[in-house]
Formats: sequence, C-alpha cells, structure tokens
Amino acid sequence: MEFLKINHLKVYYPIRGGFFRRVNDYVRAVDDISFELRSGETYGLVGESGCGKTTTGRTVIGLIKATAGEILLEGKDIAKLSSREFSRYRRDIQMIFQDPYSSLNPKKRVLDIIAEPLRNFERLSPQEEKRKVQYFVEKVGLHADSIYKYPHEFSGGQRQRIGIARALTLNPKLIIADEPVSALDVSVQAQVLNFMKEIQKEFQLTYLFISHDLGIIRHMCDRIGIMYRGQFVEEGTSEEIFNNPQHIYTKRLISAIPNADPQKRKEQLALRKQVEEEYTNSFHQYFNHDGKAYRLKRISETHSVAIL
Ligand SMILES: Nc1ncnc2c1ncn2[C@@H]1O[C@H](COP(=O)(O)OP(=O)(O)O)[C@@H](O)[C@H]1O
Ligand SMILES: [Mg+2]
Repeated sequence: MEFLKINHLKVYYPIRGGFFRRVNDYVRAVDDISFELRSGETYGLVGESGCGKTTTGRTVIGLIKATAGEILLEGKDIAKLSSREFSRYRRDIQMIFQDPYSSLNPKKRVLDIIAEPLRNFERLSPQEEKRKVQYFVEKVGLHADSIYKYPHEFSGGQRQRIGIARALTLNPKLIIADEPVSALDVSVQAQVLNFMKEIQKEFQLTYLFISHDLGIIRHMCDRIGIMYRGQFVEEGTSEEIFNNPQHIYTKRLISAIPNADPQKRKEQLALRKQVEEEYTNSFHQYFNHDGKAYRLKRISETHSVAIL
C-alpha cells in the first residue's frame, strides 16, 4: 500500500466582492491532482510561483480544507478520522517552512521553539524536555547550549536547522518541506539539503519536497510531479523528467535552469530558443483553449504526461 495517496484533490479559494462580500468566483489553486508517496522516498512538487504547490502541501498537512478529493494516509481518509486519530496524523506529518527568518518566533528561546510541538502532544518533565531538545539540537549540528539563545543569534542556515529540529521532535513519518532553502544563500543551500538527506535515512523519513527550483529538485527527489496552474502536466522519476521530458512546459523549465559552465552557455541558449519555438508552434498539443493542461496519460509504468 502507498504511504500517502492523494486522489483528485481540488482546493478552491473563494473570491468575494461587492457590498455583501458574496462569493463571485473561485481561484482554482489546486484543480484535480492525484499522486502518491511511497515510504522513504522524496517526492518533488515543482512549478512556477502561483501554480498551487504551497496550497497542496498545506492541504495535505490539514491546514487547509480540501474542496474535493481524498487524502489517504496508509489507506485511511484523513477527512474521516476521529479527532484523536487526526491528532495522531498531525504528529506524523510535520512541515519545514520557507523562511527561517519569519517562521521562528524572535521572542522565544530555541528551547521553547523546539519544545512547542512536544508541549502540544506530550507531557514531559522539564528535564526530559530539555534533554530531548538538546538531543535534536545536536543532531542538526548545533551546540547543546544553543537552546538558551534567540533566533537572531543564528545565521539563516542555522535557523533552518532549528526549524528542522522542531519538525523532528515528534518522530514524524512525513516531512513536507516547502521551499526549505529558497531564503538561504546559495553557499549554504547545499549544506542544508545534504543534511536533510542524511537525516532522512537516519529517521526513515518520507519527504514531500516543494520547490520552484528544478536544480534543487533534481538534487533531492526520486520522483517528480510538474505542476502548472493547479494541475500536473507531467510526472515521472527524476531520470525520466530530466533525461526524457515530454511536456513542453517541463522542457521549458529544464531549459531555464541556469548553467554554471560558461562553455555550455551557448549550447543552452540554442536549446532555449528551440524550446521556445516548439512552445509557440505546438501550444495546442499541450494546452486546451482555456490554456489548461490536458489529462495525464500514462506513457510508461512510472511516467505520465498531459497530452491530447
Ligand atoms: N488564501 C488565499 N486566498 C486566495 N487565493 C490564494 C490564497 N492562497 C493562495 N492563493 C492563490 O492560489 C494560487 C496558488 O497559490 P500557492 O499555492 O501559494 O502557489 P505556489 O506555492 O505554487 O506559489 C495562486 O493563484 C494564489 O494567488
Ligand atoms: Mg509556495
């Protein structure tokens, strides 16, 4: 059985207007997506800003209510859980946020920040709590004394490690990482990403990894879903997506990855031009008259593309 299964998920935000603030229309932030996560893998959700990645992550963790569709954890529909089961679910799934500058309360000590989820779910003595927090602080590579400091005393990379420590305290099964390194300097991004890979093995974590950056997705993910305007345009293994992309939108994203090698820049420019031409010429093969993607079609055991 899949660890987590998302079936035909839709999340619409109402748009209100006029004197009575009536609902006029909806933003179809997530518009019928289905995918599954296997235990221990890293699944990447990628697409431009506004395509619905954050909404998907926040709905899976239960912060936003789905408009339609199902979210099944180990076969159980989360909408049908008792409050006790839902509380269990919220322990098993934790989130790492994009901005370590704003997601940590500046007025709280690291001890209180990391202990917060523990205090919500477990009754520990102050000594037990401190021991546990210190264990995780050291696990993420910070000094045990860090627990008495405040967020501003740390660098961005260190703050993100504090956010990760907080996510780990309840021994979760799934971590949803929403653009976890986007706010960090490029020089520390790789450190945090590699560290996330290390703890994944140690704590047997499954990741739902959200990013607009295809380079990072390639580094981290086993399988990838490419999102465009609330839908998937392609899904496949990392290998399939990067070596054999089928949808024009995927090709466009890949051709836009900056190339560090100056020798290859000319080649890349040519590729980009070619992809842009293909995009213009074959648009209707990939998008309907509303500019929306077609339904996903399976082209191999693991690879699906939204084509006519
Ligand atoms: N609370 C909200 N109310 C109304 N619209 C929203 C809300 N949050 C996000 N949206 C809209 O939903 C779409 C998807 O947003 P989001 O999930 O944040 O995308 P992403 O994370 O891929 O950038 C966007 O058009 C965004 O403007
Ligand atoms: Mg987002």
